Amino acid sequence: MKLINKTVIVTGGANGIGRVYAAHLCSLGARVVVADIDFENAEETAATLNEASRRPIAVAVRVDVTSPEDTARMSEVAVENFGTIDVLVNNAGSYPHVEFEDIDYEAWRRVIQINLDSVFLCSKAVLPIMKAQGKGKIINIATNLVWVGLPAMVHYITAKAGIVGFTRSLARELGGCGITVNAIAPGAVIPKGNYSDESRSRVDMIVNNQCVKRPQQPEDLVGTLAYLASDDSNFVSGQIITVDGGLTMH
Ligand SMILES: NC(=O)c1ccc[n+]([C@@H]2O[C@H](COP(=O)([O-])OP(=O)(O)OC[C@H]3O[C@@H](n4cnc5c(N)ncnc54)[C@H](O)[C@@H]3O)[C@@H](O)[C@H]2O)c1
Repeated sequence: MKLINKTVIVTGGANGIGRVYAAHLCSLGARVVVADIDFENAEETAATLNEASRRPIAVAVRVDVTSPEDTARMSEVAVENFGTIDVLVNNAGSYPHVEFEDIDYEAWRRVIQINLDSVFLCSKAVLPIMKAQGKGKIINIATNLVWVGLPAMVHYITAKAGIVGFTRSLARELGGCGITVNAIAPGAVIPKGNYSDESRSRVDMIVNNQCVKRPQQPEDLVGTLAYLASDDSNFVSGQIITVDGGLTMH
């Protein structure tokens, strides 16, 4: 229970990998704020976590992470419910596949907003509380694609590459306040199930290039997240930890 009584905000915690993060953090004793634009699934996620632990350890809040008002409210809800904000996990994101020639300026701006502006806004929202506490941890979710690039995702990968600079620079700026800033760069998480021939050949190509010869699952990321959220990582800041089975090496 190495996160006992720590309050963690997980943006994008209602679905996908964020939901797995929220469940794992709660299993280690954390109190979790599930912050998502999808309020229905955020509430369902929080209710499931509360039922499993038989005490109120999770709360849902409807947040559009591109909104200054919503992200400010997100921090207020965390403090109202749990009194502190120990960890912020900037996980909400969106990764449309669109060829560069077909990305118009509006779509470009939107993807940068959801994946990068969100990290700025959520970090700003928790900062006064973490500063007053004299400690805090910001964990940003990037992607291993920032090391290698990929066609048809230029807007997404540009935003995630921005997270690398943000993480390193903010870590330097906030170190004196007792706040660490790190990032995780996951590889492609491959949902379990039956694949079409096209998907199968893509999965085979990824797995063949990894050192660890199996598809990545969301559960492969939770150990690194828990480490960065816990006091075990108090001397680690400004780092981008790639978790992709050794597909890329950085
Ligand atoms: N899935 C992968 O293979 C993979 C690989 C590398 C990095 N990542 C990153 O991991 C994170 C989670 O990915 P995922 O696959 O679980 O995605 P997902 O689409 O399954 O879930 C994303 C969550 O973010 C929420 N969200 C989207 N826009 C939002 C907004 N404006 N405000 C608040 N919430 C919003 C969604 O409602 C959803 O709950 C993302 O940052 C993604 O870029 C994913």
